[in-house]
Amino acid sequence: MRSHLCGTLEADHVDSTVELAGWVHRRRDHGGVIFVDLRDHTGRVQVVFDPDNPEIFALAEQIRSEYVIRVRGLVRRRPEGTENPNLSTGAVEVLGQSLEVLNRAKTPPFPLDEAESVGEDHRLRYRYVDLRRPEMQERLRMRGRITAYIRRFLEERGFIDVETPMLTRATPEGARDYLVPSRTHPGEFFALPQSPQLFKQLLMMSGVDRYYQIVRCFRDEDLRADRQPEFTQLDLEMAFVEERDVMKLVERLVRDLFHDVLGAHLPAEFPRMTWQEAMFRFGSDKPDLRVQLELVEVADLLRDADFKVFAGPANDPNGRVAALCVPGGAELTRKEIDEYTEFVGRYGARGLAYIKCNEVARGRDGLQSPILKFLSDEAIAGILDYTAAADGDLIFFGADRASVVNEALGALRVRIGHERGFVEAGWHPLWVVDFPMFEWDDQSDSWHPLHHPFTAPAVDDADELRAHPHQALSRAYDMVLNGTEIGGGSVRIHDREMQEAALEVLGIDGAAAREKFGFLLDALEYGAPPHGGVAFGLDRLVMLMTGSTSIRDVMAFPKTQTASCPLTSAPSAVSETQLRELGIRLRATASASGTSGAG
Ligand code: AMO
Ligand code: AMP
Repeated sequence: MRSHLCGTLEADHVDSTVELAGWVHRRRDHGGVIFVDLRDHTGRVQVVFDPDNPEIFALAEQIRSEYVIRVRGLVRRRPEGTENPNLSTGAVEVLGQSLEVLNRAKTPPFPLDEAESVGEDHRLRYRYVDLRRPEMQERLRMRGRITAYIRRFLEERGFIDVETPMLTRATPEGARDYLVPSRTHPGEFFALPQSPQLFKQLLMMSGVDRYYQIVRCFRDEDLRADRQPEFTQLDLEMAFVEERDVMKLVERLVRDLFHDVLGAHLPAEFPRMTWQEAMFRFGSDKPDLRVQLELVEVADLLRDADFKVFAGPANDPNGRVAALCVPGGAELTRKEIDEYTEFVGRYGARGLAYIKCNEVARGRDGLQSPILKFLSDEAIAGILDYTAAADGDLIFFGADRASVVNEALGALRVRIGHERGFVEAGWHPLWVVDFPMFEWDDQSDSWHPLHHPFTAPAVDDADELRAHPHQALSRAYDMVLNGTEIGGGSVRIHDREMQEAALEVLGIDGAAAREKFGFLLDALEYGAPPHGGVAFGLDRLVMLMTGSTSIRDVMAFPKTQTASCPLTSAPSAVSETQLRELGIRLRATASASGTSGAG
């Protein structure tokens, strides 16, 4: 239907006759001449209809935005002074000689150029219009380039793409499962996979040496800007490897990918940081290393303070008192400090004490703070020393359970860093390693895995793991890029006894372990090789590489923050007949249930 693509026309094409097809981006009438910006996936070109041909001109007068048309015309240079340097085709225009309306269009639900200012639900409802925007097209193309690159990289290194079931049993990755009722087994359910974790391990036991898959995963959890209920992982697994083998390979993959697709340079070797150090210095297991601020532990200075808010956590083994020094922060207004206090409150902090450092050399007299009166001279001197505060700085404090302080000050660090310009440009990847195997959850009064229950511990002895679960470190590694966890993996347990011990710590033992993971435990007894792997959040990776702020912008048809699809109106009610076939009767309150899930 066409001889050329709109966005590709340039001066070389002058004097040739071309046939184009696409959407009417805009029509403008100018002193008896009609200009149409014709758009396809490659870009836009200006088509001109003049009244010399009355029939075509009359038709051109009828076309509207987003009409689908086909044009034959002569490429000519634009008259001097009317070139558009912002458009790749801006040197030329096409003089329309024939025009065919292939399809009409209603007035678009929003002007394409103004999509950023309309509500996202509206954009998602009319996603097929939204996706016509050049920036969305570019994101989809970039995503395609990235997956093609990854496939090539892995296949060149002996990885094979193996598909794993979507209708399966629960694979615990810390979220709720999406369940699918079975018609042939009334009352029973499949779970959609949270990840292919167990199948990829079974593939290693099946003699597949190097597996990969670009695979959909399903997690029913609280949604955020970088989370979706169904998302895509680059999942891979390797037999006969240790941590360093997997890390080396995927570090190379990420570095080459960024170089070849974006022209960006990542460091020759990604720094490694223990989980402990990351939490200590940045209050986060996915520190944004672009931000030049750090938390400083000050608990030891405040154990005897006359201020319970500080002394309590300073003397509690699970507590933490940390300071965050903001250069130039003394200029912050009361209102700004109140706003930050409200912000940390969202992470559970009960306050945000601060000291303004007007003139450090004068000690106590050079400082300004509601809490000074509670602090000894030694404590004040210690704080100034540890934080290396200078004149004009402000020091914030968090005092609480360590988890609360880390979350609150960790988030504050990133926010203030970005707001006040303490951010380095570029890509700052790192590996976080030496995670604890388990963390204690007060709510359920039980141990939870920091990764999944199949992660190998650093100890070799199963009894040791049972006896001291709180001390055990895991052989896991997460890749973090500019504050986003883009991937995580580990060496796996390949020994039945160790796997049973890990499940036992989590409160899954005996019959429960056999019921849930019997197939894995069996497989471990029929010759399981040592193995390990990793999974990357492909959507997150594409989000970073395209500079998008939301994961939804790099998915063609994403779900909303409440896990629904405005385009198809999924999820939706089903007929009584379908329910009966499945042996399901609905409770009256089903539609009112909440959506919260574990993190
Ligand atoms: P994990 O749960 O860390 O590990 O997931 C791996 C990566 O997937 C991405 N991710 C998500 N992206 C979008 N929306 C979500 N809801 C979401 N949840 C996770 C993150 C994360 O780093 N089976 C293990 C991997 C392994 O051990 O090999 C796993 O799934 O970028
Ligand atoms: P209060 O004595 O509760 O009025 O608190 C005095 C100062 O300490 C105020 O600036 C509070 O914001 C701050 N504060 C209170 N609780 C905490 C906490 N857990 N961590 C840090 N600062 C706090």
